[in-house]
Amino acid sequence: MERTFIAIKPDGVQRAIVGEIIRRFESKGFTLVGLKLLQVSRDLAEQHYDVHKERPFFAGLVEFITSGPVVAMVWEGDGVIASARKLIGATNPLTAEPGTIRGDFGVSIGRNLIHGSDAPETAAREIELWFKPEELAAWQPTITPWLYE
Ligand code: RTP
Ligand code: MG
Repeated sequence: MERTFIAIKPDGVQRAIVGEIIRRFESKGFTLVGLKLLQVSRDLAEQHYDVHKERPFFAGLVEFITSGPVVAMVWEGDGVIASARKLIGATNPLTAEPGTIRGDFGVSIGRNLIHGSDAPETAAREIELWFKPEELAAWQPTITPWLYE
């Protein structure tokens, strides 16, 4: 089964939509295998956003993600990486479709509430960066036969 890394950024925590976001992933049929709330260190933030380090908005990204608690999660399911990106919506909440998390709850690109891995390689890298192996639980929901044929 595929896994992806999802983080509710400080704005999502402050906006009190943690429960709403988890509900959307649960309702879709994905399985929560890792969950923690943490204050992100500068080192972790810089490693997480390493791919953007040459971009003009890099410093702002690191500043913001370290500014308050973040909810880090690992979700599992067939096709979860691409599907989570669809649930999340386009990077700019103003152009994100209604029905997506960013489309329903945000108005600006620097406050887009949530991060999701964009490919299998980044998902593997981010899960390893944010979670120790013992912080992840491999389990099979009893409803699995009602989700997959
Ligand atoms: P994410 O990594 O957070 O899931 O978002 P994404 O793939 O949709 O967007 P990405 O290109 O990876 O950008 C990472 C985060 O940087 C901020 N950003 N600001 N000011 C700008 O032009 C700009 N572009 C991107 C956003 O917060 C985006 O989520
Ligand atoms: Mg990205």
